[in-house]
Amino acid sequence: MVAMSGASASANVNGRPYEIVDHSFDVVVVGAGGSGLRAAVGCAKAGLRAACVTKVFPTRSHTVAAQGGVAAALANMGPDDWKWHMYDTVKGSDWLGDQDAIEYLCRNAPESVYELEHWGVPFSRTEDGRIYQRPFGGMTTDYGKGPPAQRTCAAADRTGHAMLHTLYGQALKHDTEFFVEYFALDLIMDPQGRCLGVVCLKLDDGTIHRFRAGLTVLATGGYGRAYLSATSAHTCTGDGNAMVLRAGLPLQDMEFVQFHPTGIYGAGCLITEGARGEGGYLTNNEGERFMERYAPSVKDLAPRDMVSRAITMEVREGRGVGKLGDHAYLHLEHLDPAILHERLPGISESAKIFAGVDVTREPIPIIPTVHYNMGGIPTNYHGEVLTKKGSDADAVVPGLMAIGEAACVSVHGANRLGSNSLIDLIVFGRAAGLRAAELVTPGETLPELPANSADAALARLDGFRNASGGTSTAALREKMQRAMQTHCAVYRTGEVLAEGATQIAAIWKECADVKVTDRSLIWNSDLIETLEFDNLIVQAAVTIESAANREESRGAHAREDFPARDDAKWMKHTLATIDEEKKAVAIDYRPVHSYTMTQEVSYIEPKARVY
Ligand code: FUM
Repeated sequence: MVAMSGASASANVNGRPYEIVDHSFDVVVVGAGGSGLRAAVGCAKAGLRAACVTKVFPTRSHTVAAQGGVAAALANMGPDDWKWHMYDTVKGSDWLGDQDAIEYLCRNAPESVYELEHWGVPFSRTEDGRIYQRPFGGMTTDYGKGPPAQRTCAAADRTGHAMLHTLYGQALKHDTEFFVEYFALDLIMDPQGRCLGVVCLKLDDGTIHRFRAGLTVLATGGYGRAYLSATSAHTCTGDGNAMVLRAGLPLQDMEFVQFHPTGIYGAGCLITEGARGEGGYLTNNEGERFMERYAPSVKDLAPRDMVSRAITMEVREGRGVGKLGDHAYLHLEHLDPAILHERLPGISESAKIFAGVDVTREPIPIIPTVHYNMGGIPTNYHGEVLTKKGSDADAVVPGLMAIGEAACVSVHGANRLGSNSLIDLIVFGRAAGLRAAELVTPGETLPELPANSADAALARLDGFRNASGGTSTAALREKMQRAMQTHCAVYRTGEVLAEGATQIAAIWKECADVKVTDRSLIWNSDLIETLEFDNLIVQAAVTIESAANREESRGAHAREDFPARDDAKWMKHTLATIDEEKKAVAIDYRPVHSYTMTQEVSYIEPKARVY
């Protein structure tokens, strides 16, 4: 059957009945952000029946918050080349990115952006009608030897909003079947390790939905909410990452957490890097443009890891601004108000609302804020999930894909360049659709799911629904967020990480004492927040354990006790798995791909990462 919905069964867990509704699709995409929608469109265009399951309405997905733009070497505003983009991305990743995947990303970026343009994304325009492009950190010309590249295609400072709405329209046009406000509980895996689908809870009526599919695509986003202050939406709880861990599969490079240099002080909301792309600059309490000291050639357009470290150093050395001397200023008041109005209207409004600042007159108080997870579900550049089997470090998990921030392809390695996230979403969302068309025959009859395939997911759901311990989810979550913010921050030491790992392990154990007060299944936000917290805590554990384990500094992972990059020992991906019973993390490794996808480009040899 191609797509079948509605067959029902029931299950009994601890004497409590659960109604199960079965569905069958060629492909089920979990998540309706940029990558999920792009994959769903690709599947539909290939004649596959695709379901898109999402816990929020599609246009509320976190992609909507992306501001500054999407990177692609279109050369609309000056010379550019996808090979320069590739060089910058490899260097930005501090040589932890897989160069075959980076080649795939940068080579396919222009075509993917033009496709969006043709579908109706309202990009800002140059005088002659081309897509407007602005400079972003770490994006250069001529393999780093030339001036900054204008490579970031922008729709003012609401690029993610424009892309998400357009992609949702395309997905509807191509008959994607949406299951909106369905919370994914767990993957259905067979004993041979194939993914058969996913079990979900329908939030508005409490029914359980079992999606059987030839391919399950996780597009579930990052887990920024493991931290106290993040630019991520409160929905960014890495639900797909946690499902993968519970399925016994590894997550990759979780120690690499990106801090965006310019979160609004106190509120954590994003002020786009596009603000510096348009000419904004940072100062300390002496009014000094301190980035000139840290990155003499690109200054305020250095990559994010470097700018975040520079701000942290200024504060530590007594040059922070404000009453507490604990942040920095971002200046835009020297820019033409007409430019601010045209190109940065969104952040002008955010600065007013969240910092009480009129950007045409005063600087914005900013502080590095958690923004992006470089780590995630290991995949190849087709979006297929990888695991390690014996000597094969790149064994494909049949039936399972991951894309977007949930995935670690790995194109961002140890540090993502700004605007490489939106391009990652659409290039790899598109790649997943193309691969799905090769792997799945439209209408193929799928094997019946085993009768007990929802049991584990239901047992977990029922356990939390009836949890009657002594600690609220909110209290546990705050403890976790504070521990991560304090112990796994911009700068790290072995001692501080070890203390944090002990705290996170204790909080993980305390989950057994969680208290859920609402026992219903309908719009039970207490229960959903508990399931989300349970997803977050395992990701916090693998993040901090992976960080404590990596004894070097690379990209966003800055160890004060191991300040140098150590390629001989550490040019390898971390793989982390969990033992839920023991509440323990195990670490393994995968080699970094030291080859390109084609002969057209050569492997970019590691060197010192200076700007
Ligand atoms: O600063 C920004 O506009 C964010 C872009 C990104 O994370 O790629």
